[in-house]
Amino acid sequence: MFPISRMSRELIEAGLGWSWTPARVAREILSAETVVLTSCYGDRVIAFAIMHFGDETAHLNLIAVEPEYRRGGIGRRQMVWLEESALTAGITTIGLELRAGNQIGIRFYRSLGYRETGVVPGYYRGLEAAIRMARTLRPEITQSTV
Ligand SMILES: CC(C)(COP(=O)(O)OP(=O)(O)OC[C@H]1O[C@@H](n2cnc3c(N)ncnc32)[C@H](O)[C@@H]1OP(=O)(O)O)[C@@H](O)C(=O)NCCC(=O)NCCS
Repeated sequence: MFPISRMSRELIEAGLGWSWTPARVAREILSAETVVLTSCYGDRVIAFAIMHFGDETAHLNLIAVEPEYRRGGIGRRQMVWLEESALTAGITTIGLELRAGNQIGIRFYRSLGYRETGVVPGYYRGLEAAIRMARTLRPEITQSTV
């Protein structure tokens, strides 16, 4: 039940309380400006990502993969899908924040071309700093394009 909000609480927000409640996730699913992407194994949601699309920038709110399905490329594929959608929508930059202590998350985003752009002390309820990261999107130009 409520797989996205549960995963958010257990895999992302642990120790910080629970801000991505089922009601908030439901609002995001209904929002025309937000994409809520899921990956499923049978009936089970095993990964999700939530991205807000603005006019020229997008913001990745959350991404998580169930622990037993990690390192199989699911997170990367979700990001690529969202980035391609953002590019199609005319978006040039994707930004995000993550917990300063999330070394795996930082490595994951770096591997996808995101770079640190700043630190926000106390961003998470005054309990933990956030690292800001961003990536500029560029359309792929191949020989056959030109
Ligand atoms: C971060 C997370 C979404 C990555 O998902 P994933 O499906 O395991 O990631 P992928 O398999 O697509 O990995 C892509 C690349 O990221 C890097 N990476 C991912 N996990 C890593 C780890 N544990 N250690 C080092 N590098 C890692 C690697 O470069 C990897 O490429 P490679 O496997 O070819 O070496 C997942 O670890 C997760 O759900 N973490 C908890 C939630 C979280 O921290 N979310 C981000 C902040 S909201």
